[in-house]
Amino acid sequence: MKAGILGTGHYAPEKILTNFDMEKIVDTSDEWIRTRTGIEERRIASDEEDTSDLAYKAALNALTEAGIKAEDLDLIMVATVTPDQSFPTVSCKIQDRLGANKAAAMDISAACAGFMYGVITAKQFIETGAYKHVLIIGADKLSKITDWTDRNTCVLFGDGAGAAVMGPVSEEKGILSFELGSDGSGGKHLAQEGSHIVMNGREVFKFAVRQMPESSVNVVEKAGYAKEDVDYLIPHQANIRIMEAARQRLGIEPEKLAVNVNKYGNTSAASIPIALSEGVKNGKIKDNDLVVLVGFGGGLTWGAVALKWGK
Ligand code: UT7
Repeated sequence: MKAGILGTGHYAPEKILTNFDMEKIVDTSDEWIRTRTGIEERRIASDEEDTSDLAYKAALNALTEAGIKAEDLDLIMVATVTPDQSFPTVSCKIQDRLGANKAAAMDISAACAGFMYGVITAKQFIETGAYKHVLIIGADKLSKITDWTDRNTCVLFGDGAGAAVMGPVSEEKGILSFELGSDGSGGKHLAQEGSHIVMNGREVFKFAVRQMPESSVNVVEKAGYAKEDVDYLIPHQANIRIMEAARQRLGIEPEKLAVNVNKYGNTSAASIPIALSEGVKNGKIKDNDLVVLVGFGGGLTWGAVALKWGK
């Protein structure tokens, strides 16, 4: 049995904070942010909207696209580092709000790679036949742990949520290969200390620019394909320069790279599923396409899958 993605969804809060707005908050410029990161604006959730509210909207969207009822879900996983509170988990709140009365629920903490950890965990449950339908949500409200006086970090992040419903698909479709990894020795480079994010940007950059291209190539080769066969690459949206490094290493055309970092900034666990959902909705991802999802994040953590799109 193969596990694949049956439907996707996403949600981004309404409020837009542009680079020009950031110029009024810290000593920065639109020019610096755009050229160093590719970010032009980001979305910020309101005080009334917490992570579970973002996650819920993305989940509804994914269930509709998948044509799966909440009652048919066996497991709900929410990847987040900004849960509403440490417990009850965001996943339990979603289980209740959806009325997913037979689903188990747990949160996953792997920072920006959290959605990848969720997808790969779901694959195991589905392929063993233990569970049929699994909902994975990547949701973060980083704005609540952002230090709005630190220009090194506050210009980079945004809020949002993305989701995927996974289930069994035909033998030639679905997830073909995966890779997961961690390196706790680099944890100090990207961390929450007290109530705020602290980051050594240069060190994270060096790690990411090595790891994302390498993991992308690894999963494609494990799947038995050549690098150039990739139809669509969805990397974690942190910095266009890191994403470009992965694209160039695969040797694929610029239009095959999913880019929305310009609109949303780095939305942590939400970035890959938002880009995935947008790719499906705008027709960039088509049946039978070879799609690579690849992420990295605090921990340090990373994860990638190669999959054949379709049911
Ligand atoms: O989900 C994972 C999250 N994190 C990441 O992916 C971060 C990975 N790292 C990066 O994306 C890049 O390292 C950054 C975008 C954070 C920084 O870009 P960089 O090209 O590595 O710049 P830098 O750290 O070498 O800093 C260059 C200069 C510094 O000034 P000095 O020391 O050379 O005088 C910074 O103080 O840019 C300065 N700077 C800024 N200037 C204007 C740092 N932030 C800003 C800012 N506006 N917002």
